[in-house]
Amino acid sequence: MTGTEKTFISQLKNHAGQTVTLAGWLYNSRSSGKLQFLIIRDGTGLCQCVLEKGSVPDALFESLRRLGQESSLTVTGTVRPDDRSVGGFELALTDAQIIHAAEGYPITPKSHGVDFLLRHRHLHLRSQRQWSIAKIRHTLIDAVRTFFNDNGFTLIDTPIFTAMAGEDRVSLFQLDYFGQPANLTQTGQLHLECAAMSLGKVYCFGPTFRAEKSKTRRHLTEFWMVEPEVAFIDLDGLLELAESFVAFIVARVLRTNRPELETLGADIPSLEKITPPFHRLTYTQAADLLTGDKTKQFLALQLEDLKTRKRQIETRIADLEARQQTPLKQWKKDKIAAELIDLRTDLAETDAKIENNPKHARLAAEFHWGKDLGGSDETIISQMHEKPVFVTHYPKDAKAFYMKTDRDNDKVVLNFDLLAPAGFGEIIGGSVREDDYDRLLAQIAHKGLDKNDYTWYLDLRKYGSVPHGGFGLGIERTIAWITGEKHIRQCIAFPRMMDKIYI
Ligand code: 4AD
Ligand code: MG
Repeated sequence: MTGTEKTFISQLKNHAGQTVTLAGWLYNSRSSGKLQFLIIRDGTGLCQCVLEKGSVPDALFESLRRLGQESSLTVTGTVRPDDRSVGGFELALTDAQIIHAAEGYPITPKSHGVDFLLRHRHLHLRSQRQWSIAKIRHTLIDAVRTFFNDNGFTLIDTPIFTAMAGEDRVSLFQLDYFGQPANLTQTGQLHLECAAMSLGKVYCFGPTFRAEKSKTRRHLTEFWMVEPEVAFIDLDGLLELAESFVAFIVARVLRTNRPELETLGADIPSLEKITPPFHRLTYTQAADLLTGDKTKQFLALQLEDLKTRKRQIETRIADLEARQQTPLKQWKKDKIAAELIDLRTDLAETDAKIENNPKHARLAAEFHWGKDLGGSDETIISQMHEKPVFVTHYPKDAKAFYMKTDRDNDKVVLNFDLLAPAGFGEIIGGSVREDDYDRLLAQIAHKGLDKNDYTWYLDLRKYGSVPHGGFGLGIERTIAWITGEKHIRQCIAFPRMMDKIYI
């Protein structure tokens, strides 16, 4: 490659009419006699390259025709505007050099099952979907940092090894720390509270660990969380901070990653509505909503919609299966096979929703004050709202030890969860912190925690205690909501779940 200046696909727009060289991988190809169409990807985008017989030596033409998916190569050609091309430009090839010819790449353009793709994550990262998610994740994390940096927050790196439980004892990953028991951190919050008493407004951002045995679409055992903590703030102040923060990061992704959102089929018009103020409900209002007629009617309507959707999918499947019986070109057959795999996945998901609808309706109707909101309760509430919903003032016994008791009603705490809309559910959990020494001590005992582990945490309530609070936003859940990915394991390059630690 020496001597040639390499151009990136994302820069082709600056080179119309010029001859350039790209270095990348063969994403897909097809040939029809004297013409070959090679789709090349180079990390910045995709480009269709057109190769005419005679424009390169016959031997090279032949090698390119047989070149396997994901082979690496350089291609040289003239940049031509082309409306039908993915990036708006195509390359009319005059030369190519094969760097490494790949054979039998296991992930073909046809659809594959989820488990297969997870076992091939090291290669699946090259797919358009994973590429798009990585780009969006990058923007989101950059926006998270920008928001706090530009609003007077100081970054504090909190430890990953901890001596005490940050949230609960159930989901602790325990380990042996030179003969002493220790854990992987569940949250940076407690350490961050110390820093807030020094710097006022602080945030931490890093991986957090929870030994979650549930294999739901919302749980990883290792996930990334950003947590701001602010001295002298009340619950209203926290809600305002959270809504301006979420609106900011969503707007940034919309501005930067529209093509990627389109590739993923994200609901862009809904994302454009994510502006303050968000909805606010107390837990008690949420409980009334769940057990009321409005929810009953909403779920009944939803069941009808699901049944209609099921009939539509079945009709489409029957139609495609009939077409498979007719003589077709290979590429057309492959296209139909891929669509059928997607439709059958869709059908299975719709069936599961139809089956779950009455269960969710029963759970909602039986909801009683005092229970934490379950996954299905959150789904229902968030499906009934177009914008994110804050649920505040949960029962004290359902929540973590550090949350401040509402002085006007000691059965509830000054906390909130933020539920993303369209059924996604919780993306943020936060609260005002108990700042009274005796009440905090009593809560530690009540939750069965050892007060000796929390001496330093209690000290904050001994020396200049102030009202303060903060929250934590889960990065993978936020990406799943924004992109419309059903499972958060797609939203981190190498997901960790109870049964997955292979790659
Ligand atoms: O609600 P959580 O447990 O709150 C805390 O950890 C507080 N200490 C935060 C704070 O006030 N500083 O977790 C916060 C968020 C959740 O809303 C969710 O987005 C994410 O972290 N989260 C998970 N994401 C993926 N997998 C899991 N197992 C998660 N558990 C929590
Ligand atoms: Mg929570």
